[in-house]
Amino acid sequence: MSQDYTPRASNAEIEAQYEEYLMPIWKDLHVPIKRAEDCTVEDFDGNEYLDVFSGISVTNAGHRNEAVVEAAKDQLDEFVHGCSYLHPHQPAAELGEKLAEVTPGDLKKSFFCNSGTEAVEGAVKLARKYTGSKEVLALEMSFHGRTLGSLALTGNKSYKSGMAPTINDVAHAEPPYAYRCSRCDDDECTSGCASSVERVIDTHTADDLAAIIVEPVMGEGGIIVPPTEWMERVQAIAHERDALLIVDEVQSGYGRTGEMWASDHFDIVPDIMAQAKGIANGLPLGAFTAREEIADAFGSGDHLSTFGGNPVACAAALATIEQLQDGLVDSAQEQGQWLTDRLADLEAEYDAVGDVRGLGLMHGVELVDHSETGPNDVAPAPDPKLAKHVGKSLREEGIVMGVGGFYSNVLRFQPPLSIDRDQLDRTVEAIGSALDD
Ligand SMILES: Cc1ncc(COP(=O)(O)O)c(C=O)c1O
Repeated sequence: MSQDYTPRASNAEIEAQYEEYLMPIWKDLHVPIKRAEDCTVEDFDGNEYLDVFSGISVTNAGHRNEAVVEAAKDQLDEFVHGCSYLHPHQPAAELGEKLAEVTPGDLKKSFFCNSGTEAVEGAVKLARKYTGSKEVLALEMSFHGRTLGSLALTGNKSYKSGMAPTINDVAHAEPPYAYRCSRCDDDECTSGCASSVERVIDTHTADDLAAIIVEPVMGEGGIIVPPTEWMERVQAIAHERDALLIVDEVQSGYGRTGEMWASDHFDIVPDIMAQAKGIANGLPLGAFTAREEIADAFGSGDHLSTFGGNPVACAAALATIEQLQDGLVDSAQEQGQWLTDRLADLEAEYDAVGDVRGLGLMHGVELVDHSETGPNDVAPAPDPKLAKHVGKSLREEGIVMGVGGFYSNVLRFQPPLSIDRDQLDRTVEAIGSALDD
């Protein structure tokens, strides 16, 4: 018998329960959600919002995508749990095969877990097992998750404060953040900027490098897009040292950048690829996929997750991939191209817009204060206060926008890939109005 679901009366009631019963980790809460559909989120007070952040870049196929919901419901009617490592089941088997088909190059075998941080840590374990080495090189300003292993990889102390020591042998090198890079004067970092990666390996590691891990677009860092030659050089550096390249596609994957993977924009094939977020359009699932030779380094019992590869989440993932291939990735590319041009106009119009950058429907607008110089004397100072103000103004206008970046001064466009041009335009207009204020 179905149980009645009684929606709470108001936003205030939900917020009061959060205050009373949930750990107070995040004070800047967004909209209490009663319902969500495609690009729209509705709260308990009857307000509707345009969601240009997709949760945190998760609902790439749109909130409550009908095909995904149907696939999940069908699976719910069959069975809900059968640990995919104990009882083999069809959704995990089919998703494994599908990932071999859609991931770059000869990536073939996957492990299923429940989140991005788990996918990243599993990828590091596999790299260690395959190479026999232990150390990892990551980038400053990177984000790879919050559990202690991934936290060690994350190159941002604001996530680590009070949490040290973390657990991983990690060294950090400079990211290819062209707007604030002191190494190159170009609009783009060059392969020369990757020399920082070599310098850090040569000075901070102990000849025991298992992997270099990079995000092909650094999401939490502020939508930092590396140039192709930098990526290629970093992969070469890893291989010259018999280490692997782990590409963290947790945020940039599943069509977000106008290709199925951000890696597809570069001339590289990762050795291991970590995925989560958009994989099942909101159901909890993570994965890492590797070349067969690397994947087979894991022996029986080397890794496991009780809930990993949940059949409902795997069924949802299969439907999500179908939706993405059925036009949403192409749409992200097309709308992304339009957004690039539209944001270039915004940059030209407003001094406070220091830089705009991105791929597909993963774009950042970096806000700056020209009265001061920023780190390394390279560009105007970041303006996190203004970014916060713009985020708040947008919410008052009924638009949910991400605000983040290493300096908390980047507006983040990461909407469902089904967003239309009017909705994008409305958002850019609203940013302009907030800046006019
Ligand atoms: C690039 C990247 N890796 C890993 C993670 C961690 O994912 P999760 O929050 O699912 O653990 C995130 C989350 O934002 C991410 O952006």
